[in-house]
Amino acid sequence: MNILFIGDIVGKPGRLALQNNLNTLKQKYRADLTIVNGENAAHGKGLTKKLYHQFLEWGADVITLGNHAWDKKEIFDFIDGADQLVRPANYPEGTPGKGLQFIKTKQKTVAVINLMGRTFMNPLDDPFQVIDDLIKEAKSKTDIIFVDFHGEATSEKQAMGWYLDGKVSAVVGTHTHIQTSDERVLTNGTGYITDVGMTGAYDSILGMEKEAIIRKFKTGLPSKFEVPETERTVLSGIFVSIDDKTGKTNTIKRILINPDHFNFD
Ligand SMILES: [Fe+2]
Repeated sequence: MNILFIGDIVGKPGRLALQNNLNTLKQKYRADLTIVNGENAAHGKGLTKKLYHQFLEWGADVITLGNHAWDKKEIFDFIDGADQLVRPANYPEGTPGKGLQFIKTKQKTVAVINLMGRTFMNPLDDPFQVIDDLIKEAKSKTDIIFVDFHGEATSEKQAMGWYLDGKVSAVVGTHTHIQTSDERVLTNGTGYITDVGMTGAYDSILGMEKEAIIRKFKTGLPSKFEVPETERTVLSGIFVSIDDKTGKTNTIKRILINPDHFNFD
């Protein structure tokens, strides 16, 4: 089972990079399943129904979310009917949408889980407790379990990776928008990276216009963040090849495509 995951799509430049590269990447890695984190897709914050369907049309099979899941209010109108959309599972009971979706591929069903960290983020239910129940539910249908752990702190992400080592196929971090170079297979067979990185404007700060962010740091005053208009983009992703029988990761590879890097293998 080959899974391709593309990191946080930030606004129009991110969508452009996704559209321009997705087909090639899917072919290159013979992807059986393609997952895209879309929580920043609509002008940097949230996801619209139109963009959700556009990503599926371009070749994504599942869209994961994060702390910006609810920024475009229309998501409340379509999330319950969107069976290829996964929001963080550790929101309280009664939250619309699902934190675990089963996706059928040609070979096997894959359980895709989205979870959110709590360190330097808004309070949510404990992801370490929530994941235990989700794994039980997932294991009733499949051994292939993929976790997008949306968090700020590297320590919390590493802790989740090691906590899930041998229990799930892969744990990939999202949210910080900067790709880490620590991809590896953990000792019990779980593929892991602390952060996949973002897909968006290359000459930016985390995908947003750099001037406003510099101003904020210099003045301490609130500043309106905008997504820049640019065709100079970065695409960040990760590829995992998983043994269908054991659900363990055989290979994990980092993908980074920008004007300075063309890391494709
Ligand atoms: Fe985020």
